[in-house]
Amino acid sequence: MLILGIESSCDETSASVIEADKDRITVRSNAIFSQIGIHALYGGVVPEIASRAHADTISSLTYEALREAKCTIKDIELVAVTSNPGLIGALLVGVNFAKSLAFSNNIPLVAVDHIKGHIAASYIDTDGGETAVPPFIALAVSGGHTAIYLAESRTRFSLLGSTRDDAMGESFDKIGRMIGIPYPAGAGFDRLAEQGFRKASPDAKDFYSAFASSAAHRDPAMHLPSPAIKDGSLDLSFSGLKTAAINLIHRFEQKGDELPRELFAAEYTYQAVEAVTEKISDAMDRHPGLPLVVAGGVAANSHLRHALSLLASKKNVKLIIPPVRLCGDNAAMIAAQGYYEYKDGHIAASTLNASAEDSAI
Ligand code: KG4
Ligand code: ZN
Repeated sequence: MLILGIESSCDETSASVIEADKDRITVRSNAIFSQIGIHALYGGVVPEIASRAHADTISSLTYEALREAKCTIKDIELVAVTSNPGLIGALLVGVNFAKSLAFSNNIPLVAVDHIKGHIAASYIDTDGGETAVPPFIALAVSGGHTAIYLAESRTRFSLLGSTRDDAMGESFDKIGRMIGIPYPAGAGFDRLAEQGFRKASPDAKDFYSAFASSAAHRDPAMHLPSPAIKDGSLDLSFSGLKTAAINLIHRFEQKGDELPRELFAAEYTYQAVEAVTEKISDAMDRHPGLPLVVAGGVAANSHLRHALSLLASKKNVKLIIPPVRLCGDNAAMIAAQGYYEYKDGHIAASTLNASAEDSAI
């Protein structure tokens, strides 16, 4: 079955054709237009500009996706579109485009939750790698979300824990911007932190793990608090870490001292990654033996990938993280989730509308 996916929830417009044969999903095309260059000027996403840019590019990207997949709209048996959560104006562009396309070609349409879509990147067969089969624990880490789920099936999830305030990606973006990393700061923060870890423990093989006992980490001037909430829950709070980081930057500024940016990025990353790892470890203890799936833009973070792979080996569970190119926003993951929504009979009504809100997934 050929499925066309459409994604326009934030600052990437994407159209993709995937092929689904039972549980084998392969990508035929995955055209992505990133608006980063447009929004970087403003230091963050400007919703109105994002909507207009989606409207500009969505038709040509869809043509491109069909052409690259060597098919036409007549070959498409299902259209899947991100309906929520995200920027409302941006979502509306994709939803209305997908509705018109499905309606005019008499193709069934399914609505996809963006977060379930991120997790569905792990169902895609990439170079014969392992794909996720429920039940599993899923960590969704993106610009707007940080949550741990129990996936009972590919369409039924229960929430085990989440951030009570800021998301991990958004905190990297905000703090990164303060230390001069251009938007979106995640990837630059990742590289800067690596320099910090290496600087703190130059001789260590595993420079991330060595950081815990390094002198740089123990320096009180550089210390930041853990975002893990210590109440027995699987919840996190990034706002305390963020505020402490802002205060630390200001303290250096007030004294006229230069902030050691690499060590700061290393400490920030370490606290964020350790807290998530600690909560995932608790989730694994509560649901022993289940594989772990990590999804969303922040799943590209090399230190998070490393820490979770150490944890998974220690607990002897499978770890499935999609390749970096499928971690960020893309329509192939939306089409993959759309396939399973369709198989479960979740066809969208003609009244389908976009929503900025999370669904109770
Ligand atoms: O999933 P995504 O593409 O969009 C949302 O659904 O939010 O995630 C974007 C987020 C941004 O905050 C970006 O800075 C972050 O993912 N990100 C990273 C890395 N690459 C992207 N964060 C940390 N390390 C990275 N390597
Ligand atoms: Zn996303």
